[in-house]
Amino acid sequence: MCGIIGYCGKEDAVEKLLYGLKALEYRGYDSAGIAVFDGDEVISVKSEGRIGNTEALCKEKGLQGFCGIGHTRWATHGEVSVRNAHPHTKGRTTIVHNGIAENYNELNRKLKERYDLISDTDTEIVCALIDSIYSEIEDPIEALEIAKERINGSYAIAVIFSDIVDTVYGICQDSPLIVSEDENGMYLASDITAIDSTDKLYYRVTNEVAVLCRDKLQFYRKGEKVIPESFNADRNMRKCEKDGFSHFMLKEIHEEPDVIKRTLDRYVIDGIIRFPFEDILTSFRSIRIIACGTALHAGMTGAYLIEKMAGIPCRYEVASEFRYNAPEDMSGELAVIISQSGETADSLAALRIAKELSAVALGIVNVENSSVARESDIVLYTSAGAEIAVASTKAYTAQLAIIYLLAFKLAYKKRRLSLNEQRDLCDCLYREIPDAIREVIEIKEQIEKTAKKYAVCENAFYIGRGMDHLLCEEASLKLKEISYIHSEAYAAGELKHGTISLITEKTPVIALLTDPFVFSKTVSNIREVKARGAEVLVIGMSKAEECEYDALISLPETDPLFAPFTAAVAFQLFAYYVALHRGCDIDKPRNLAKSVTVE
Ligand code: F6R
Repeated sequence: MCGIIGYCGKEDAVEKLLYGLKALEYRGYDSAGIAVFDGDEVISVKSEGRIGNTEALCKEKGLQGFCGIGHTRWATHGEVSVRNAHPHTKGRTTIVHNGIAENYNELNRKLKERYDLISDTDTEIVCALIDSIYSEIEDPIEALEIAKERINGSYAIAVIFSDIVDTVYGICQDSPLIVSEDENGMYLASDITAIDSTDKLYYRVTNEVAVLCRDKLQFYRKGEKVIPESFNADRNMRKCEKDGFSHFMLKEIHEEPDVIKRTLDRYVIDGIIRFPFEDILTSFRSIRIIACGTALHAGMTGAYLIEKMAGIPCRYEVASEFRYNAPEDMSGELAVIISQSGETADSLAALRIAKELSAVALGIVNVENSSVARESDIVLYTSAGAEIAVASTKAYTAQLAIIYLLAFKLAYKKRRLSLNEQRDLCDCLYREIPDAIREVIEIKEQIEKTAKKYAVCENAFYIGRGMDHLLCEEASLKLKEISYIHSEAYAAGELKHGTISLITEKTPVIALLTDPFVFSKTVSNIREVKARGAEVLVIGMSKAEECEYDALISLPETDPLFAPFTAAVAFQLFAYYVALHRGCDIDKPRNLAKSVTVE
């Protein structure tokens, strides 16, 4: 999704801004641009496609300066084009903008007489709005405070005014905007990874106007100078090198054994789960897990486990649908919001609704200080570190790890699990599962060979029952998002109720077979699809060898309760190699964004 960077200081602003834009690339974008004070003139350079195109244009124009703003755009209003790319300029005002101005139609009606609007974007209208207010009152800070009142929706905006040389302004509403300073200058960004400053304090802009000059940083609220909330940067979140791997996705899959250990280290002490909010956990009559995409799939497994182990009614909800499904009152309910980024607009909206309905909100989040982390009543962190590949891998298994701990803890609180049983389960998850995952990673060449065969297909089905079915949802998402193969996840027993008509010899079926309880039933479903010509790839432990298959990815023997961890790494590697052999842009799949900050 869109990203913002701003810099003002002693160093080359073009270099700093391009550094920031490259660091924001992982979020997904389709065009980019920067605007810099070249002397006392504001020059904008923007291009479609990769940052390299913008960089080449900056060189060609010999752009230089000490102060400017930059943007990566993920199209929401209008096609991908230079015309729609940011920065946008109207009058003396130039802006870059994340989020959506929900009342842009209304603003447009008021401003179109006065400004010649050339793009399809809401950003250009916001730019015109700020310029019109600035023209009236000639005070940049007051103009931005008034503009804030008039723009509806969540957004973050960086602004420069052509007559106030070498100054960057920032405002935001429910969308992240972070500011930092070091000996080289002042930085502003929507994402901490974009800030090339030394390890200093970071300020979070909320209701303030941030003002970055070459030698000073100030914040204003209602015209008064203020100091906003600050925090220390998590250096782990800022490390984003491929370390010799061909893709971030492959690197992040290799990190999974350590991520699970790190996540458990935070909450398991001497085999006992210690959450910072022990007492609250006994007071809920039901639980609702709300999330999007991969995080939702982790939540599906969570709902299944919590009901089975703790006997507490637990359901999952697609975050973007929650406002239509929400009950009238959620008092006595725990709303669990799972999010890697902690900035996903749909999940954040659901969190706010759940709180309004009197639920207690538990955030399961990877990014400390993110919006979900700050707005939740209680928080559990997944210690996955920065996840750069758009396709989530290590964050998913880290989310599973937390969800398992939550299920164990609730089962213990409900006296369905003894302390010793809890200790044994935690011990297994900590000591055996990371090694079992390493064993799966060790057979990656074999997984690649299998994947190469499937790289030619255009459709696929994933089938499984029980927990395997829930895993299929994530396995199927991984395949389609990075390889562009159309794939569907089905409860194995449901296929024969219509969908089996799609099975031909060209439609491979990937069966997940880790749960001994449903083994023979899934095997029957495998026979049904084989009888209709499908090529079947089975992912399972040694018992899976008993069934009929065309290819097998053999998982190490573990307690089946923990098979989702090893199976996940196997299907992530499978999807990765299929995409590799199809020549796809694995870390940045088309049309996708890492952090989806629009609803
Ligand atoms: C898929 C993927 C997405 C995210 C979803 C939620 O690989 O990464 O489906 O899981 O957009 O994102 P977060 O977890 O940041 O809320």
